[in-house]
Amino acid sequence: MDNKNTNVNEAEAAKQYAIMEELKALFDQEYQKTGKRKTYHIETFGCQMNSRDSEKISGILKQIGYEETDTEDADFVLYNTCTVRENANNRVYGRLGYLGKLKKKHPGMLIAICGCMMQEAAAVEKIKTSYRFVDIIFGTHNIFKLAELLKTRLESDRMVIDLWKNTDMIVENLPNIRKYSFKAGVNIMFGCNNFCSYCIVPYVRGRERSRNPQDIIDEIKKLAADGVVEVMLLGQNVNSYGKNLDNPMTFAELLREIEKVDGIERIRFMTSHPKDLSDDLINVMKESKKICKHLHLPIQSGSTRLLQIMNRKYTKESYLELVDKIRAAVPDISLTTDIIVGFPGETEEDFLETIDVVRKVGYDSAFTFLYSKRTGTPAATMDGQVEESVAMERFDRLLKEIQASSAKSAGKDEHTVQKVLVEEVNEQDPTLLTGRLSNNLLVHFPGDKSLIGKIIDVSLDESKGFYYMGSIR
Ligand code: SAH
Ligand code: SF4
Ligand code: F3S
Repeated sequence: MDNKNTNVNEAEAAKQYAIMEELKALFDQEYQKTGKRKTYHIETFGCQMNSRDSEKISGILKQIGYEETDTEDADFVLYNTCTVRENANNRVYGRLGYLGKLKKKHPGMLIAICGCMMQEAAAVEKIKTSYRFVDIIFGTHNIFKLAELLKTRLESDRMVIDLWKNTDMIVENLPNIRKYSFKAGVNIMFGCNNFCSYCIVPYVRGRERSRNPQDIIDEIKKLAADGVVEVMLLGQNVNSYGKNLDNPMTFAELLREIEKVDGIERIRFMTSHPKDLSDDLINVMKESKKICKHLHLPIQSGSTRLLQIMNRKYTKESYLELVDKIRAAVPDISLTTDIIVGFPGETEEDFLETIDVVRKVGYDSAFTFLYSKRTGTPAATMDGQVEESVAMERFDRLLKEIQASSAKSAGKDEHTVQKVLVEEVNEQDPTLLTGRLSNNLLVHFPGDKSLIGKIIDVSLDESKGFYYMGSIR
């Protein structure tokens, strides 16, 4: 556990804290005059990596003296963008138009665009030319510099652009704000080295970097001391955690250490790449009292031929064997997946292989995506791009298959009593609470909001398909 990662940059953190102090003094002065705190609003697109990054951004802004607001009519609006599929980009452009109008009515409003989309030159060019009212552009590697970028912007009156192609730096111990008091996402690694041929993530998130195990454990101990009972370990491929540390450590070993942290009752992780899921990890999952009974195991396609072109490094058969091994070790595990339809060259036979896997595995649920061409990835220039009407028709068939598969597994815990983490007051009916089962399904039951954040026994009285109605035991 004494890994020393030379790339953890303490000097940088100290420098950023000094700038935060300076800005805070400035904002405090303004507050004395106006009696009003400046507000910020973050719109987060994309995956849990981005949600976690937005918490870090919040941490920096609160340290400076900003207050969060839930409307875009704020003094500082940030879009933390995603670029994994084309429609993710389009959503951002659509909303930027509206934001420009809002800015005209709101003197002094600042707008920043950050996240994965900004790691792409073409997107940045478009913002520079078509959305000139944007004040700050930064990327995925330099979030820790936000205070510095803001200071530059306040002093210069020009668009500030700071983009790093890649980084080997990890800046620890910056301020951050967590969305929930009882559960937290914890990055264990950044970036991705897999270069699946359709995927933009390795280009916009850089090479794989694992955090030191001790830094991770310290963070989780601190979270536990603050009342957090559930952690979600985050990485694009958590199963390859630790390979590049000075003292290499496997993901399974890391999990064993996290299991020992008192106060943490539940451990989740995301995402598992099938090619790196080890027997040791399956053992840890089997023995653990804390790892949740849910595994997200993206297959992408059931066709071994396509999997090879996708550069996924497993076959249909090896994936199915892996599923069998996991089910044998953890019989009540819930399995979910990601599937892409219409990858270049996908034939009806390839697609039927995907349907076959869905039937054989019996997923509890799945995220299904229409293939989206990402410029710069190998698949974008491949022959045989599938016609949209064909892809759409396959997509609909796949969806029906997934629905049938989830319907089969739905309700299997009806009339049992399960441990539930109480997460919130039900949005539709305030007399109900909503809690999450270990297998990630939700249950709604009558109860008092003082139970939020606690793990309690709930009887699952009635299955409603994708959720349960229950009562406290
Ligand atoms: N690291 C994770 C995935 C992160 S991206 C993994 O390897 O499983 C989340 C999902 O988006 C992917 O699993 C894939 O199904 C989908 N995706 C990625 N690129 C895509 C593209 N170009 N078109 C459609 N879906 C894509
Ligand atoms: Fe993309 Fe593949 Fe990396 Fe996942 S493992 S982020 S799909 S390149
Ligand atoms: Fe999107 Fe970036 Fe996540 S591209 S899916 S937000 S890593």
